[in-house]
Amino acid sequence: MRNQLLLYLLLISIILSGCSGKDQVSQKYLIGFSQCTMGDDWRKTVIEEMMREISLFRDPGFELVVKDAEDSNENQIEDINELLAMGIDLLIVSPNEAQPLTPIIEEVFDSGIPVINIDRKINSEKFSAFIGADNFMIGREAGKVVAKLLKNNGKILEITGLEGSSAAIERSAGFRDILDQFSEIDIVNYEGKWLHEVALNITDSILNHTRDFDLIFAHNDPMAYGTYLSSEKHNLHPYILGVDGLFSENGGIQRVLEGTFDCTFLYPTGGDKAIQLASKILNNEAFNKYNYLSTVAIDPNMARTMKLQGDRITGQQKKIDRQLDYIAEIDLLLKQKQNFLLLNISISILLVIVVGLIFFLLYQKNKLYRALDNKNRMINEQYTQLFEQRDDLIKLMKIAEEANEEKLRFFTNISHEFRSLISLISLPLNRLLETEIAVEIRDKLDIMSKNANRLNKLAQEILKFRKIDTNRYKFNFQESDIVEFTREVIDSFRLKAQEKEVVLTADMPLQLMVEFDSPCMEKVLFNLLSNAIKHTDKEGIIYIRLELENSYLKIDIKDTGRGIPKNEIPLIFDRFYRGNNYGLNDEDNAGMGVGLALCKELLSLHGGTIRVSSKVGKGSTFTILIPQYHDHPGINKKQTSPSVNDQSPGRELEKGSEKEPVKEPEHEFNQDKTVLIVEDNSELRSIIAELVGKYYKVVVAEDGLDGLKKAIDTIPDLILSDILMPCMDGIQMTRDLKKHPSTYHIPVILLTAIDSQESTIKGFDTGADDYIIKPFNESLLITRIQNLIESRTRILNKYGKNFFSVDDLNIEDNISKEFINRMIKIIYDNASRESYSLNHLATDMNLSRSSLYRRIKELTGMKAIDFMKKIKLSYAARLLINHDLTINEVAWRTGFSDAKYFSKCFCKEYGQVPSKFKVNLSEVP
Ligand code: FRU
Repeated sequence: MRNQLLLYLLLISIILSGCSGKDQVSQKYLIGFSQCTMGDDWRKTVIEEMMREISLFRDPGFELVVKDAEDSNENQIEDINELLAMGIDLLIVSPNEAQPLTPIIEEVFDSGIPVINIDRKINSEKFSAFIGADNFMIGREAGKVVAKLLKNNGKILEITGLEGSSAAIERSAGFRDILDQFSEIDIVNYEGKWLHEVALNITDSILNHTRDFDLIFAHNDPMAYGTYLSSEKHNLHPYILGVDGLFSENGGIQRVLEGTFDCTFLYPTGGDKAIQLASKILNNEAFNKYNYLSTVAIDPNMARTMKLQGDRITGQQKKIDRQLDYIAEIDLLLKQKQNFLLLNISISILLVIVVGLIFFLLYQKNKLYRALDNKNRMINEQYTQLFEQRDDLIKLMKIAEEANEEKLRFFTNISHEFRSLISLISLPLNRLLETEIAVEIRDKLDIMSKNANRLNKLAQEILKFRKIDTNRYKFNFQESDIVEFTREVIDSFRLKAQEKEVVLTADMPLQLMVEFDSPCMEKVLFNLLSNAIKHTDKEGIIYIRLELENSYLKIDIKDTGRGIPKNEIPLIFDRFYRGNNYGLNDEDNAGMGVGLALCKELLSLHGGTIRVSSKVGKGSTFTILIPQYHDHPGINKKQTSPSVNDQSPGRELEKGSEKEPVKEPEHEFNQDKTVLIVEDNSELRSIIAELVGKYYKVVVAEDGLDGLKKAIDTIPDLILSDILMPCMDGIQMTRDLKKHPSTYHIPVILLTAIDSQESTIKGFDTGADDYIIKPFNESLLITRIQNLIESRTRILNKYGKNFFSVDDLNIEDNISKEFINRMIKIIYDNASRESYSLNHLATDMNLSRSSLYRRIKELTGMKAIDFMKKIKLSYAARLLINHDLTINEVAWRTGFSDAKYFSKCFCKEYGQVPSKFKVNLSEVP
């Protein structure tokens, strides 16, 4: 597009330059004029006439270049060569002398350039035309006049022009042609070279010797005037005759009129005629080779007539000159107007072209847009179709997802329910097993307990899937020796293998460092090995091979067991698959299908894979691959959540029931300590109460609201609460407890069947100190309670005495205690408000400011402002003990906008800066 535009602009500029360059194109010809001299009026008149003539042409079509040879042949030859070099189309030449100039002029003529000889001739016919007077005729006319004046007797002094010039030669010849007829007339001649001074000097020297001259004939008027001056000087008055007869101030006509000359002969300049002739030649018009201009003898009579005519002519010429000037002005104006017009036209053309171009481009653009619109429409239609398809797909996926989610939710809920119910079975069952009972009943109860554990394990598996599905399964990748790890897992199966008489053999390197999540790998290996043992009959072999393959850890677990039917192989990693062969009717194998599917999911999250090859009757080989290091994207090796992970029901139960049985707490329990149990399920509440009641005093509450009330009433040493409860849930209750001045320090353990991260986080946000997932292990629960109570007691023993408490005051009556407690609660509630003042406190306590001051002074012995500061700092210390907050946060929460000032006040109150206080706190055992 841009190129097109440039092309148009170029075209326009060519048009414009074409218009403005018209004059130059019409100036076609160059005329060179080589003058023998320019030093006299006659020559100047020639040039004037030429220029005037040229200006009379409307469009001369040529240009004139003039060269002055200054009476020198050499100069003139050089001038002509220069003119040739300039590329002249025609040469006008007035040759200084005929002979020396003939060759160069012939050369010009021969080269095809037309030559006009003006006034003087050359010794050759090689020229195009001659224009000028007939000098022989002038000589003869002069002779005739002389004959008349001298009446056939007298002596003549002839001063000739340059001897070699044709004008001088011919004038002399014509003069003698007449006077030779008169025997009594003598002529003496000298060369005056056409120059005034030369003629004057010659005459002077002649007259110095002889005075015997009747008449002087000089070949031109300037020389004639020279002879006149000389004659006057010598007091002689010969007849004086000249040639040229110019009508100028000192011209020949004037000299005749004033009597200086007796006669002169018109020698026409003919500049105008020379130009006319040149124009004819250049325009290929017919012309004469010889163009003689007429001459006339100018005696005093003729001079008068010519003077009159001359004046008129001069007047005319002046008019003509003025006209010409005017015309030139008009011409210039016209040219300017013409140029302006051309410019206008050009601009108009340009505008038309630009407008045309714009329309053309618009048309093209619209055409393109139309095409683009069509394409867009098509693409949009395709998009719409695609979006519709995508939406349909999303809908289908959503339906599938919802169905899956629904299924999972169902299984999860069922599992939670199961686990709550299992708790109700397991806890009394275990209590029963601890008592002395008949062996047959114990055996049955053992079977019941064992199956309750299996049921719990199944529920636990499903909950783990839930975690994987919601991306909440947290990995903790750590580099350690996988060989040692695998050997430990294998060792745990040795007894079982011996029982089944199955050979368990392994081929592993001595050591292999791998980055792995041990709970995940333990789970996977445990599943695969227990499957292998279960499906391998007596005398079978289980072979474990571990090696590094392309930066991947590869573990093969090969058995010589029953094998998996071909059609079932693709299904065995399905979540709810129950293989006919693989696990059906196997009482130990209730979670088998879930186990393999879980392995696959866990390995995939671990960045690994699992595959199986199997043949019925021959056995199966399970191969797992995991990356040696998890430095590729997609695997988050820093995924750690130890507090949650360690508390996961799976680990908890595994530790409690299968792997590391939690020992009975061995501490001495202080029956003085009270535990508040908040649980809405009455059966579970009484079981927990019975369990905890063995070690601590127990207070029970039915829901959060009841729990809150009882906590304030009884100030227990620990609160054990369910989360989901009617009226007020465990989370809200914990929040309220932590705000209350009497209960904020009481440790809270949340007990829940909901194993979700959200509720865990919420639990900690409320200030809950721990939480335990149902079904819990009795020993674990007691250990946790014991630990929390003991650590809290230690801290309070160390620091608690420093904290302000209503008990620090010597107040007996409950009303006053209640008053102080209410005040402390209000200060706590507003602690974070920096602007909260004693005025506000007075208002909130429904007292006047002075009453508040007085009451505080009476009860505490402190100034009101000091009391408030003490309470705030006490609150800050408690926040540092009970919450994992930064110093800045504690300062902010206690209404100190300046952390430095806070530290200063804190240090004054407790003898150490808050940061030190916090460090010391963490060092309390
Ligand atoms: C001018 C002039 C005239 C004379 C003519 C002859 O240069 O000397 O006076 O008539 O040349 O060519």
